[in-house]
Amino acid sequence: METSDQVDVEAAMLARIDDGELFESIDELSPRYREILKQTAEIASISEVSVLTWACTAYPTAPDIGAKIAVCATILDEVGHAYHQGVLAEQFGVDVHARAFHDDIKFIWTWPIMEFPIRNYIEFVVMQSMLDRAGLHWTKDLELHCSFAPYRRTLRKVNFEEGFHMRHGNFWTEYYWNQSDESRAMVQRSIDWIFPFGVMWFGKPDSLKTRPEQLKYKVRGWGNDFMREKWLQSSCAFLDRLGADFPAEFDEEQKKWVITMPYPMKYEPETYTWTQEKCEHDEYWAHSRKGGPMRPAAYDRLRREEWGDQLW
Ligand SMILES: [Fe+2]
Ligand SMILES: [Fe+2]
Repeated sequence: METSDQVDVEAAMLARIDDGELFESIDELSPRYREILKQTAEIASISEVSVLTWACTAYPTAPDIGAKIAVCATILDEVGHAYHQGVLAEQFGVDVHARAFHDDIKFIWTWPIMEFPIRNYIEFVVMQSMLDRAGLHWTKDLELHCSFAPYRRTLRKVNFEEGFHMRHGNFWTEYYWNQSDESRAMVQRSIDWIFPFGVMWFGKPDSLKTRPEQLKYKVRGWGNDFMREKWLQSSCAFLDRLGADFPAEFDEEQKKWVITMPYPMKYEPETYTWTQEKCEHDEYWAHSRKGGPMRPAAYDRLRREEWGDQLW
């Protein structure tokens, strides 16, 4: 039960948010707003840790020293993303080290595609092009719109680097598209697998969303549907310039790209394919919580070998 004082604090803070004010100190925030920021930063930092285990699988596939350096640089960037967002989450009382390295692995939150080992370097660069683009929309929103100013600043460097990953992915996707028939076919196969994960990246449609308060407190400015739409338009424009096939078509009346794939649909982890059959959103998200083939082994390995007691 909220006291009338708490209701006043809440109302006064929401009025300041509506006026476009930014907050510098945690002390200025109501308990509810603090909780929402805490959840947002916690999920963001833990999911960046999962990106590390995914990016590691790209290293053995890199065809030459330049590509190996690019993969290593990506991993270093992602360590920084986990660190900077982790430092922020810790201000809200999250024990990020415990969350990443000691808590039950089943509580590690990530996108299921981060738990599929990368099969070849072409798949890696297509993922950068499609999914760093998705990640960038997700975090750019916070940088541009979050009413807690330190979060905006934290993401400036993160977003600069995500943008660089995306452009690296675009450049090499185009390169391999034009290199040979064989590499072009591999780019196409990667797009078939990755594109639907981009569509699913932004969570449930706004109408089914469980955290609408992110918008109320202006932690975010863009809803899931808006971000998905932005991602879709920019991805389709890129793939169309390339000349690749992808499950969307340009609607002349609406003057925009619309998806032609069943939405949502489930993936088949064993074969890296999609069912091409529409399912319910709850069904997709229950399926996605099972993750990919690297769960839980990748986190276990990260804890034992890459961070564990034996390391030092
Ligand atoms: Fe990242
Ligand atoms: Fe990235």
